[in-house]
Amino acid sequence: MFLPGALRGASGRYYSCPPLVYPLQLDTMSKDTFYLTTPIYYVNDVPHIGHAYTTVAADFLARYHRLRGERVHFLTGTDEHGEKVALAAAAAGLEPQAWADHVVPRWKEVWERLEISYDDFIRTTEERHTAPVQKLAQQLYDQGDVYLGEYEGPYCVACESFYQPSEIVDGLCPIHETPVVMLKEHNYFFRLSAYQDRLIELYETQPDFVAPESRRNEVLAFVRAGLQDLSMSRTSFGWGVPIPWDPAHVMYVWVDALQNYITAVGFGSDQERFERTWPADYHIIGKDILRQHAVIWPALLMAAGLPLPRHVFAHGYLTVGGKKMSKTNLTGISPHTLLDEFGSDGYRYHFLRDGTFGQDGAFSYEAMLARYNADLANDLGNLVSRTLAMVTSYFDGVVPVPGEATEAEVLLGQKAAEAAAGLDRGVEALDPAGALEAVMSLARATNLYINEAAPWKLAKDPSPEARQRLATVLYSATEAIRQLSVLFSPAMPAASRRIRAQLGLPGVETRPLPVALAWGDLAAGTKVERGEAVFPRLEAQG
Ligand code: MSP
Repeated sequence: MFLPGALRGASGRYYSCPPLVYPLQLDTMSKDTFYLTTPIYYVNDVPHIGHAYTTVAADFLARYHRLRGERVHFLTGTDEHGEKVALAAAAAGLEPQAWADHVVPRWKEVWERLEISYDDFIRTTEERHTAPVQKLAQQLYDQGDVYLGEYEGPYCVACESFYQPSEIVDGLCPIHETPVVMLKEHNYFFRLSAYQDRLIELYETQPDFVAPESRRNEVLAFVRAGLQDLSMSRTSFGWGVPIPWDPAHVMYVWVDALQNYITAVGFGSDQERFERTWPADYHIIGKDILRQHAVIWPALLMAAGLPLPRHVFAHGYLTVGGKKMSKTNLTGISPHTLLDEFGSDGYRYHFLRDGTFGQDGAFSYEAMLARYNADLANDLGNLVSRTLAMVTSYFDGVVPVPGEATEAEVLLGQKAAEAAAGLDRGVEALDPAGALEAVMSLARATNLYINEAAPWKLAKDPSPEARQRLATVLYSATEAIRQLSVLFSPAMPAASRRIRAQLGLPGVETRPLPVALAWGDLAAGTKVERGEAVFPRLEAQG
């Protein structure tokens, strides 16, 4: 049960509470779901690979947690209100809603091609979102957290964000480097400044609330420097959720958008579901939207008396020419272009494996191609094809019964266990690159194991001992491939299915980790099906 009452002072105003009486790490008794979110994407345009970067990483995490047997809820969606979307719609000569309806399928089709396994897709124009958002705004207004004032200052339409005049250099937005507009409006304000102390206390008592640490320090410094109240309504345009007590105003798009994380899981409509799911375990975001998620969002939740998300993780940018890849910079590359060439697995593997998740990384086609050929075509793809070729020619395509394990097989089993542990550690640390490197090292170790055992030599030796040894070596190599099919399934679901089909196994492992990784689980007698190369080598395209 949530305990909003415990958070209120006698006045009913949260900002008059004594500090830290409210349970920062309030754990709902009934939460039974690992809840993971991506940002919801603006529908001013179609996705580029910078957007897909967030979503692929989140999908990897969601799939891993499912593989561990956890109940997972993975949410994504679209942010459809605000000036930026209204302007895009007007430029296309459409009403904003019609424009959003037209663009949303473009996002969904990219997610489908990328094998994004979201459990729900929320659109902020849906009634299930707008109704509770209005209700919460009314609550904040009624309890005195919202007041009418005048806003005057810079605003960046591209980020839909208000800035301090001191943050603007040469009239340009610090993130987009495009001109800001000067707004002067009567707006409703949310008393963000009243939450300053409690936010600081949050970052201090829950140091991993914001990660990586550099981002936490950045947020802490920003909040310590003093918070201004937040303008939470706009009157100069009408595309947004109407402010219920004063419909001449629409809600500031960020205040509306952030609430998708609760409305999508039943806030204001299905309390039982909400309590099973909320708080989010991870909000995965890009660093450009850190303040909204690490400052505004927890303050709104504090005001609402709701538990706070457990972690906000802000990754870096995909850059082109040293700058954030973006539509504004005209550097957005369509995921389709890369998908056509690399397929979903090559695509996912590259973005998960290359670069450090919390830091910026330059996009490089050459690096992507090199990574694909080195890791996927050579190390993994060759391992699968050479092993299955040998099972086919030496054992008629039937996995042989292994003989006694030697030190080499014991070592290979250990390598598999290390790969699994490395995957766990990498996910835990939100380090997909480390996680995948650990798994790929099992493919490399298996190739070495085969090279050293030289089954092609054993096959030429007619003695029963050599035949038995050959069976052991090919069984063990095939078992290692089975383990790889499980360990790689969160990163490369389609390749995992393809490999498993060749091993004569069901496409998806349904038993959770670690059960699915018991060494020797592969049944001797299984008929393998040597198919096409799992990762055909690629040449650079003109
Ligand atoms: N609508 C808001 C988010 C609201 S969440 C309640 C928004 N949308 S966005 O479409 O502009 O960006 C969504 C996400 O894409 C952000 O996490 C942003 O960091 C990410 N990226 C957009 N371009 C990117 C790169 N070039 N590199 C990495 N991520 C980038 O902001």
